Amino acid sequence: MKHLLSTPKHVAIIMDGNGRWATKKGKLRIFGHKEGIKSAKRAIYFAKNHNFDALTLYAFSKENWNRSKTEVSFLMELFVKTLDDEIDNLHKRNIRLKVIGDISRFKIKLQNSINKSEKLTYNNQGLNLNIAANYSGRWDITQGARKLAKKIEKGSLKSNQINENMFCKYICMNKLSPVDLVIRTGGEYRISNFLLWQIAYSELFFTDTLWPDFNDSIFENAIQAFSKRKRKFGKIIS
Ligand code: IPE
Ligand code: IPE
Ligand code: MG
Repeated sequence: MKHLLSTPKHVAIIMDGNGRWATKKGKLRIFGHKEGIKSAKRAIYFAKNHNFDALTLYAFSKENWNRSKTEVSFLMELFVKTLDDEIDNLHKRNIRLKVIGDISRFKIKLQNSINKSEKLTYNNQGLNLNIAANYSGRWDITQGARKLAKKIEKGSLKSNQINENMFCKYICMNKLSPVDLVIRTGGEYRISNFLLWQIAYSELFFTDTLWPDFNDSIFENAIQAFSKRKRKFGKIIS
């Protein structure tokens, strides 16, 4: 029987290694972040061309606020500028943009850009593009728990009604297909508070490639590796 190779529907990427990429070249770290935008665009169009349902990119973690003020400000400005420059292109390509994370900590200008972009692309069905910004996996689970607690306070929910199926409706990306594959660039083998609940059964792919060097052929390698994995979900599969 012909073996059908499976392809992921939802890929999530930890885009790591911008700083080291720049330092290696004797440049400031921010130069790496700027270059990283090009890789992000390549990855988005790769996902679109391969008909993924969703692509989720980790752009800024809750812990990244602990970096120098200059680096954080640069990243925020880059975020505003990139959104403003690219949103029409994304819209034209039928891509639906959603920012996951606690955006209330961002400056109003950035919050407005995010809200405007999400609204504009809301009905698009080409690819669900999620940007994780001021995101933390623990924050995600906690904000879900808080929503449930509020319902209990109001009396519209009983604690014994809470189960995994209903809990997952309160965390980010609950309407999208499950994350099949997580890719991390930059040679570190950790999750760094990215998706936690959502990656319970995801396949993981790590590469030493620094994010600005990430390209279609490395993306292809990750997809190839994924297609060879035997996903068992706890069952015995020969
Ligand atoms: C990832 O690259 C981008 C962000 C976290 C914003 P880094 O900035 O972490 O780059 P390295 O890991 O220091 O090389
Ligand atoms: C993870 O990278 C966050 C993003 C890629 C946005 P970090 O560089 O912040 O992770 P650590 O500090 O190496 O764990
Ligand atoms: Mg890093």
